[in-house]
Amino acid sequence: MDLNILVMAAGLGTRMKSRKAKVLHNLVGQPLINHVYQTALSLSPKRILMIIGHQADDVARNLKTCHQQLTKLSDSNLVAPEHVLQLEQRGTGHAVMMAKEQLANDNTPILVLSGDVPLISARTLKNLFEVHKSNNAKATVLTTTIADPTGYGRIVRTGEDFSYIVEHRDASPTELAINEINAGIYCFESNALFNALERISPNNSQGEYYLTDVLSVLKKQGDKVAIYQYPVANEVLGINNRLELAEAEKRLRKSKLTNLMLSGVTIIDPDSTFIDPQVTIGMDSVIYPNVVIEGYTTVGENCTLYPGVHLVNAQLANGVTVKDYCLVVDSFLADDTTVGPFAHLRMGARLEANATVGNFVEVKKSTLGCKTKAMHLAYLGDATIGNQVNIGAGTITCNYDGKNKHSTIIADNVKIGSDTMLVAPVTVGEGSITGAGTVVTKDIPANSLAVGVPAVIKKQITKA
Ligand code: UD1
Ligand code: CA
Repeated sequence: MDLNILVMAAGLGTRMKSRKAKVLHNLVGQPLINHVYQTALSLSPKRILMIIGHQADDVARNLKTCHQQLTKLSDSNLVAPEHVLQLEQRGTGHAVMMAKEQLANDNTPILVLSGDVPLISARTLKNLFEVHKSNNAKATVLTTTIADPTGYGRIVRTGEDFSYIVEHRDASPTELAINEINAGIYCFESNALFNALERISPNNSQGEYYLTDVLSVLKKQGDKVAIYQYPVANEVLGINNRLELAEAEKRLRKSKLTNLMLSGVTIIDPDSTFIDPQVTIGMDSVIYPNVVIEGYTTVGENCTLYPGVHLVNAQLANGVTVKDYCLVVDSFLADDTTVGPFAHLRMGARLEANATVGNFVEVKKSTLGCKTKAMHLAYLGDATIGNQVNIGAGTITCNYDGKNKHSTIIADNVKIGSDTMLVAPVTVGEGSITGAGTVVTKDIPANSLAVGVPAVIKKQITKA
């Protein structure tokens, strides 16, 4: 769109009572500011400028990571956030003044967003822009009507027309009785905005330059100021304290679960289920209580996640079963695999079709081939394990020598006996067997039986 977007995100957010800048507080697993940035991106503007100040380095770093991650996921060039510093936070008007150098000479309309109004949808913003253009306005403000307008700026109208905005703490009793509030989201014509900003003053209870005063300056000089009154108050709620943060969190989570259920996922107890917005789940999958699914996780069709399962950036194909109390991070589970109970898969663990990992098994940076099983009490790290392998109870890949990590390779159709220690780097050839308690320190050729400490080859196995 022919639009520049400016996001005000420099404030500390005093009402959060936190050492961390407000816009870095998480909402459904992501900092507030990331939500606003993603919504801004979905409008495909020319530029996205972030006004930052409090913990500017942290906010900038976080946005950079967000941009990189989204670029990788979408495999396209996304508008990178540009940063504008507001060293002293002297109000929302002052915040926008900081972007004068970047934007004043560009005739493109400016959409101003607040870093602490994260639920706003792209569609609402598009509508706001349409209203702005169709009215030929110099400024258009997004408003809504709410039952309890405490804390918000009130919209004062003369008849139907915009007159001015008064902040809660500066308002008279008559003004306080107004239920139409300023959402803190606006469209401006660039020249009109920066000229009017020269004319506002900090004559208010906070001694701040209010962006809201730009609208009355424009109005007074005879410019058109339009109002886009939006009926869904929930979308424009600002987050100023942790109570409002928790309420927004609850609302977003509920809407995610609603969408999943309506698209064919069974969620047995929505009240105890936590699923991040980016997660996708296929039809006829069943989610038991106390399941947490975070990040960019995808779950296919016909999967079952039993109580206490925690998935983070995990990819589950179809028909996957994850039994009670498993943690699966950055891992891939192919069709019809089974995990758990009490298993830990991490850092690129990969289970090929029909593989099974059972109780108290940890898998790190390892692949288990088709139909391979590790049913009990094992550590498999930096291992490449073939198809139809059986890993006996208590098996450990000794992958760390105190300095470096080493790999273990186990070929197809191997049977690793209970309590085998595989001292890496080591390879076990196809069709071989290790006896119980074997400590393997050297490669085992194919079709051999290895036993003892350290392992010796006892015999060649002849195939039946
Ligand atoms: C603001 C509006 C109010 C509106 C409400 C909607 C003003 C004066 N008031 O009030 O009318 O109803 O939003 O949510 O604009 N910020 C800066 N630099 C500053 C001050 C603020 O970048 O110097 C940023 C904050 O980080 C925040 C946003 O601007 O993301 C809004 O500031 P905040 O102090 O929360 O304004 P409100 O009091 O909520
Ligand atoms: Ca606010």
